[in-house]
Amino acid sequence: MTRRAFCGAMAGTAGLATLPVRAAAPETLTARVATAQIAPPKYAATKVWTYDGALPGPVLRVPQGGRVTRRLVNDLPVSTTIHWHGIRIDNAMDGVAGLTQDAVPPGGTFDYDFSVPDAGTYWYHAHTNSMEQVARGLAGALIVEESTPPDVDRDEVILFDDWLLNPEDAQLIEPMRHPMHLSHAGRIGNLLGANGTYDPVLETRPNERLRLRLINGANARIFVLRLHGMQGWMVALDGMPLAKPEPVSGDMVLAPAQRIDLIVDVTASDGKEAALLHPAGDDSWEVLVRMPVTGAASTDARDAPAALPPNPRMDLPQLDSAQRLTMAMQGGAMSGMASARFEGRDTNFRELAGRGQFWALSGQSGMSDTPFASLSLGETVHLTLMNDTAFPHAMHLHGMHFRQVYSDGTFGPMRDTILSQPNDPLEIAFVADNPGKWLFHCHMLAHAASGMTTWINVS
Ligand code: C2O
Ligand code: CU
Repeated sequence: MTRRAFCGAMAGTAGLATLPVRAAAPETLTARVATAQIAPPKYAATKVWTYDGALPGPVLRVPQGGRVTRRLVNDLPVSTTIHWHGIRIDNAMDGVAGLTQDAVPPGGTFDYDFSVPDAGTYWYHAHTNSMEQVARGLAGALIVEESTPPDVDRDEVILFDDWLLNPEDAQLIEPMRHPMHLSHAGRIGNLLGANGTYDPVLETRPNERLRLRLINGANARIFVLRLHGMQGWMVALDGMPLAKPEPVSGDMVLAPAQRIDLIVDVTASDGKEAALLHPAGDDSWEVLVRMPVTGAASTDARDAPAALPPNPRMDLPQLDSAQRLTMAMQGGAMSGMASARFEGRDTNFRELAGRGQFWALSGQSGMSDTPFASLSLGETVHLTLMNDTAFPHAMHLHGMHFRQVYSDGTFGPMRDTILSQPNDPLEIAFVADNPGKWLFHCHMLAHAASGMTTWINVS
């Protein structure tokens, strides 16, 4: 069977088009073992860890200003928690085992209950040994809907992932904590896809206007995306609306945990195929999400979309009175990190590596009892991120969004995760307006698990 014929046959069962939109939201989210047909059908289904048996977990949709109320039921053989990535959340609900709550043991439950002040595209994922638990499948989309949504024909979630599978039997390659992944680019998969399948399909019509909510749920892969047969505008990043929709001209970079909200108009005609493409190496591009175009035009072509309504508390930070901080990313393969503090004492690189620790943030490898910074509620922070390693890192702050500060003093859009490249310092600024203990870590989850995790205290 050709790839195309196979995909046609699959479209009704595993494609994007069948994702439940506004399905009755469950009261519980049960973390449990299940199987999912990620790989082509000649393979057996892959054994994964899921929420409610679905890969990815169910799409949760709540109105802006509403509450998310879910009881986590842990039917896994290990302890777990749920983190609600990007939500400016009540700290006690942030889901970080060992910092904001105890991990929920097998058979246990935990009630998450929090309000969602900001509309946008967010996601939820395990935050206990997340490098393993997210790789096994524990992630899903959390959509907070505007009271006046943009004028689109459809709203679709595309949660990208890559899976590292054994090509013999399509099962996850173990061990999950591999020194090569820890010390290099992280657990990079060998099968790419979205919404739980290597061959996601989203059926469209000519001229259709779609809102595409792109989420990178991969452990470590940086997705680079291009539109084909569509014209598009970026309207939000990491959930937060852009002041002005930005026409998509070139490639879009989606680092682990980042989100891009697009509004796209299908320009391909009946019988053709639109697509989201990604680089196939050797300068060519291949289809990552197929979007076959069939049927009658939905409407005539429309004007460019308007901006999404702004979320609360999006004012620009005031830098003149800001606290100045610097954080250095250190370690990993091909770096000169000689030592770092680990578990309360100075340790050399050799010993660190022996303990599975390869990275540090400003001389501290992994969590310590003292936060990287203690901030007073309401204060503004201006932080320089130095990447002294040989790898890119997707740095994520819990509980608050920040803005990049450009060299001319202007600000970038609000984000919760920023991609840092080697030898290219970044400046970010934010107002510490959410009290609590907030994690700050690399979202290449193998890096987070082996040193690139710290926290800040806001009180
Ligand atoms: Cu999505 Cu601490 O992370
Ligand atoms: Cu990293």
